[in-house]
Amino acid sequence: WTKETLSIVVVGASGDLARKKIYPALFALYVEDMLPENFTIYGYARSKMSDEEFRDYIGGSLTCRVTDEESCGDKYDTFLERCYYQPGQYSDQSDFKALSDRMTETEKDMKKANRIFYLSIPPSIFTAVAGCASKAASSPTGWTRVIVEKPFGKDSESFAQLERELSNFLSEEQMYRIDHYLGKELIENLTVLRFANLVFEPLWSRNFIRNVQIIFSEDFGTEGRGGYFDQYGIIRDVIQNHLLQIVSLFAMEAPVSLDAEHIRNEKVKVLQSMKQLSLDDVVVGQYRARQGKGVNHPGYLDDDTVPAGSLCPTFAAVALFINNARWDGVPFLLKAGKALESRRTEIRVQFRHVPGNLFRDRLGLDLDRATNELVMRIQPDEAIYLKINNKIPGLGMKLDVTKLDLTYKQRYNQHLPDAYERLILDVVNGDKRLFIRNDELDAAWALFTPILKEIEDKKVQPELYPYGSRGPVGSHYLASKYGVRWGDIM
Ligand code: BG6
Repeated sequence: WTKETLSIVVVGASGDLARKKIYPALFALYVEDMLPENFTIYGYARSKMSDEEFRDYIGGSLTCRVTDEESCGDKYDTFLERCYYQPGQYSDQSDFKALSDRMTETEKDMKKANRIFYLSIPPSIFTAVAGCASKAASSPTGWTRVIVEKPFGKDSESFAQLERELSNFLSEEQMYRIDHYLGKELIENLTVLRFANLVFEPLWSRNFIRNVQIIFSEDFGTEGRGGYFDQYGIIRDVIQNHLLQIVSLFAMEAPVSLDAEHIRNEKVKVLQSMKQLSLDDVVVGQYRARQGKGVNHPGYLDDDTVPAGSLCPTFAAVALFINNARWDGVPFLLKAGKALESRRTEIRVQFRHVPGNLFRDRLGLDLDRATNELVMRIQPDEAIYLKINNKIPGLGMKLDVTKLDLTYKQRYNQHLPDAYERLILDVVNGDKRLFIRNDELDAAWALFTPILKEIEDKKVQPELYPYGSRGPVGSHYLASKYGVRWGDIM
């Protein structure tokens, strides 16, 4: 007989991430019948709560992405029936043992009981929890996997220390390091777009690509989480992980296969090939208040949880170069900012000029604007479009720039899964393609640690930009140094 159970323990059960992302993702997977037949969810945290109270707590956050409200309604109750709560301290082995005993109860008639621990907790207690969970609550009969999420340290040194500590309790195989950007639909599609289409892969190099831009912009500040944010800043919060992961996927050589190790072998080579960063390659900014006509947005420093006079960047633009045969000399320009004009994440690939363009006099534009551009809009309103030059219909021969447009909403009549759904499902299935290996993080920190230290040691003043604006003008100077104009936004 092959009966198996799966227990999913959300450690830090009452936290924000758990409520906003983890429970809704688990619920969506359940509604879609993607979870194993015998699964149970355990919330684990310090506060006292009964199972019923826990069910009420998460019940309020379960959204129904996948099906109509009515059929979701039935599943809602059956899902909650499988949710339990176990209070306990994070560094108390006997509390984890009590949790394990409860799990054993529901696992008893099963041949194999697998367990997932989702550490939705601050990094300062990762090690304590990993230690207790592995000693007192790992599965005696099946596999035990642990999901962790950034921050993975603050620099090379602290990352190495964290890894050393965690490796006392967990093997690399057991560890699933989430970068939720890898779970986004358009990012997963990146390798498909490139390697499954003849029209793109041959162009994917310095021979045809002038520059690549990866742009992350949010139209809200750090309100409410300034205290956390101030210890990290935008480079650690978004660029060193999410955006750098996108670069490595974008720029890697074709992997031997779609196997997780093969993909990650190629990604890590990209990270290891990057030119060291200097202060000339980076612009930092911080948003300031904006008041006026019905608008009253606080500045970063107005947040009570932010230390007075903080130099923490809420915006950064970085020019990266990959020193290998494929990408030599191509600027990869990354920018990320909070409290900007709009919320949007995009990859923009600007191609070179058509040599000896026959239509150069008819474009009516400067040649730079008339080069092809491939845009992958990761969010919101997912889309892939290619800007091309086209003849304006009619008797004349006038050209304009237009789009071949694949807007997901129009093409695919379905809600896209949230990144956390895909990632949790991959953990259940043991698929590590979208998870970060330790050497990738090692290389990512090796790239950013020296520049972060320099920015902090030299107390580099961030350029102030108004809340809701396009960010500091410095980022335009940075781009123009490499002959680049940022794409349409910001
Ligand atoms: C998180 C950052 O990792 O990603 C946040 O800590 C940021 O600061 C968030 O807002 C953005 O994620 P998403 O999926 O909303 O784009």
